[in-house]
Amino acid sequence: MKFFVDTAEIDAIAELNALGMVDGVTTNPSLIKKSGRDILEVTKEICDLVDGPVSAEVTATDADEMIAEGRKLVEIAENIAVKVPLTWDGLKACKTLTDDGHMVNVTLCFSANQALLAAKAGATFISPFLGRLDDINLDGTDLIADIRQVYDNYGYETQILAASIRTVNHVTQCALIGADVMTAPPAVIKAMVNHPLTDKGLDAFLADIKAAGIKIL
Ligand code: E4P
Repeated sequence: MKFFVDTAEIDAIAELNALGMVDGVTTNPSLIKKSGRDILEVTKEICDLVDGPVSAEVTATDADEMIAEGRKLVEIAENIAVKVPLTWDGLKACKTLTDDGHMVNVTLCFSANQALLAAKAGATFISPFLGRLDDINLDGTDLIADIRQVYDNYGYETQILAASIRTVNHVTQCALIGADVMTAPPAVIKAMVNHPLTDKGLDAFLADIKAAGIKIL
């Protein structure tokens, strides 16, 4: 499974990238706002840092304007994926930008039917939002499983980019279902290393190392 980092914070991306944990980056208007940076400047910096796809979201809601914005965004770097919302205008922009040869990430997906439409419009990535379904007492992982089945039934090549990941358990569930990509905040990716038995086991080994005076260097 590919790991994308869901942030526009350069330092956090660089830290995980140095460990080989970053296959791409996703941003959205809220993350750009949080960064306090200019969208074009910060997106360029991210693209310079990361080899994989970097999603940058359009601000328009009209297809022609989304296409114009998308064409501007792809000038930033070759690894830009234009992020468009899952509306008819977004799908129209997706088709045009995909036909132009650009990567497109169709975002704000909340149903398998929406994912089917995005695949037919040629999307490179579909972004189903798990956490926001959990927020309204639905099971976001069911949506990932449904899209996986639908895409496999018909051989669609659109990659399932599990988004709105809030917990380490979401990551496990997405990996078990077979999401192609997951995008998570840096804190969630970093929390994946945690296990109390690892801590307990290491404490015991360290005690024995000290007691026996074991030295390698
Ligand atoms: C993904 O592309 C989105 O930017 C993101 O995962 C949304 O997450 P949230 O629902 O936690 O805001």
